[in-house]
Amino acid sequence: MQKSETTTIERRFLAPFHGKAVSPPPIWLMRQAGRYLPEYRATRAEAGGFLNLCYTPKLAAEVTLQPIRRYGFDAAILFSDILVVPDALGQQLTFAEGEGPRLDPVRDVADLGRLAVSNTASKYALVWETVQRLRQDLPKETALIGFCGAPWTVATYMVQGEGSTDQAKARLWAYRDPAGFQALIDLLVETSITYLDGQVKAGADVLQIFDTWAGSLPDDQFDRWVVEPTKAIRAALKTKHPNVPVIGFPRGAGPMAGWYVSETGVNGIGCDTATPPWVMSEAFEDEDVVVQGNLDPLLLVSGGAQMDERIDEILEEMDGKRFIFNLGHGIVPETPPEHVAQLVARVRAGV
Ligand code: CP3
Repeated sequence: MQKSETTTIERRFLAPFHGKAVSPPPIWLMRQAGRYLPEYRATRAEAGGFLNLCYTPKLAAEVTLQPIRRYGFDAAILFSDILVVPDALGQQLTFAEGEGPRLDPVRDVADLGRLAVSNTASKYALVWETVQRLRQDLPKETALIGFCGAPWTVATYMVQGEGSTDQAKARLWAYRDPAGFQALIDLLVETSITYLDGQVKAGADVLQIFDTWAGSLPDDQFDRWVVEPTKAIRAALKTKHPNVPVIGFPRGAGPMAGWYVSETGVNGIGCDTATPPWVMSEAFEDEDVVVQGNLDPLLLVSGGAQMDERIDEILEEMDGKRFIFNLGHGIVPETPPEHVAQLVARVRAGV
């Protein structure tokens, strides 16, 4: 008890989740560990591939720490990938150099027979070991974020077999055979709970659920495939770990974001690049939720006065609110590392 009280005070990242606005706001960036950092590219080469990196706790912990050493972010995010879950379930996954992920697609209920939650233990154990190492190696004032992909977004890759611009194959399965698609989503809900529970037991302070493709569904489908599974995961974790906050990132949810927050019970809402700062500041006022966002990752590439102006606009709009500064989507590999330093300095200087 006493230990958790101490850590809460020490990690200012957690203050907004305890009802306290802090100024300047805590800052971390989605995909803060990655190819824009030369030290990441070196460790990835040492690991001999992206998945090896995810499954080698010592190296995964090392790349998690790299952006913390450089920039002193208020939170570290476990280095892994949302597609570790289908891989652990038994779906074949590869990441070829310079290409996105490739999976042996699941297209119907019969294909689900190839997957099983009982397959996941050894691979999840490696991720949990990374979390354990991180909790030991991180500065005590740095919070540790665990994560998973939301069932809908993970399913879009599992069904398509690769990234896509429209998630057509998953949408068509969901529309044509909702009962069959529900079986895939249920499997992902169940295994995501196990996966996140293990991350918390290993030392994660906060969890984020990435729903990158939430915006590809119309409202009724959004309710069934985005809201309901996220609500189920959130509820199960609340029973096991009532004090661990969960941040949802339903990218592209637009006007459905408020409803997502109130229905799922998430404690934080990640706002995407297209959300106007005044909407971040006003849309969630009636909800008990921390807002996170939302600088355009490409403004971080371009840098300069335009970036500074937008940072200031976000800071001014969110001043006095329970807010965490972030990007509206992940860092891209073209990002100059010195622009990240400039961003952090600007946010820390305050409004
Ligand atoms: O944020 C972090 O620093 C933690 C690590 C992390 C990665 N992926 C590492 C990664 C996290 C949280 C993710 C989440 C993720 N992965 C999402 C959701 C967030 C988002 O950006 O929308 C999605 C959709 C994926 C799936 C995925 N992983 C794709 C489509 C790709 C290929 C595209 C790309 O950016 O290369 C990946 C690969 C990946 N995941 C890389 C990294 C650092 C690059 C792989 C490499 O080093 O070659």
